[in-house]
Amino acid sequence: MKILGLVGSMRKEGNTNRIVQAIFDGAKQVDGSVETETLQLSELKIGPCRACYDVCANEPYLCVHKDDLQVALEKMKEADAIVLGSALYFNVPSRLLALIERLSCVAHLGQYKGHNEHPLADKPCCLVAVSYCTPPNAIFATLQQFTLEMRMRPVLLKSQPFYGVAGTDKMEKDEFLKPLESAKEMGRLLVQSCG
Ligand SMILES: Cc1cc2nc3c(=O)[nH]c(=O)nc-3n(C[C@H](O)[C@H](O)[C@H](O)COP(=O)(O)O)c2cc1C
Repeated sequence: MKILGLVGSMRKEGNTNRIVQAIFDGAKQVDGSVETETLQLSELKIGPCRACYDVCANEPYLCVHKDDLQVALEKMKEADAIVLGSALYFNVPSRLLALIERLSCVAHLGQYKGHNEHPLADKPCCLVAVSYCTPPNAIFATLQQFTLEMRMRPVLLKSQPFYGVAGTDKMEKDEFLKPLESAKEMGRLLVQSCG
């Protein structure tokens, strides 16, 4: 079983990455053979949708612009489960928003043409949001809508009042959300969701 973690932050070793890695740790506690891969969005070149409608309108999930979108999508397709993490940069960082925008566009336009293909459908996923102090609801709203559009299956934790795992810069001191502990629990649940 393979889990792909997307770190939606411009800092590779930041708090978003810490929570993603803690989810991996939890998953490996349940099944030591779980493989993990981290995709750092800071290393990907993904530009915005240019609304050209040239290819995606006829071939869903194909975009005429060849950049790292295809790399990210292929890795997402290959994975059995996906962790989607984001830091709060007012909302999600612009590079992550570009990925969301492009994938949502190719999904929608295919549907208008009668296609109903969703290569990520039913894939279990979990959402991660990290901020300094602002409640991370804006991130969860964006990621939640994105996963629904992709027909993915977000896994929820009973212990969290959010649509995933939330954390702040003061992770260790957070006695209420316990982000790293919750992340491990999420990892265990994610493996079980893969059935
Ligand atoms: C451009 C930018 C905008 C940010 N906006 C907010 C914000 O509105 N509210 C907040 O609490 N933190 C904000 N932050 C802080 C980050 O969300 C926070 O430090 C988070 O832990 C960063 O995640 P990282 O360690 O994975 O990079 C912002 C950071 C940056 C760089």
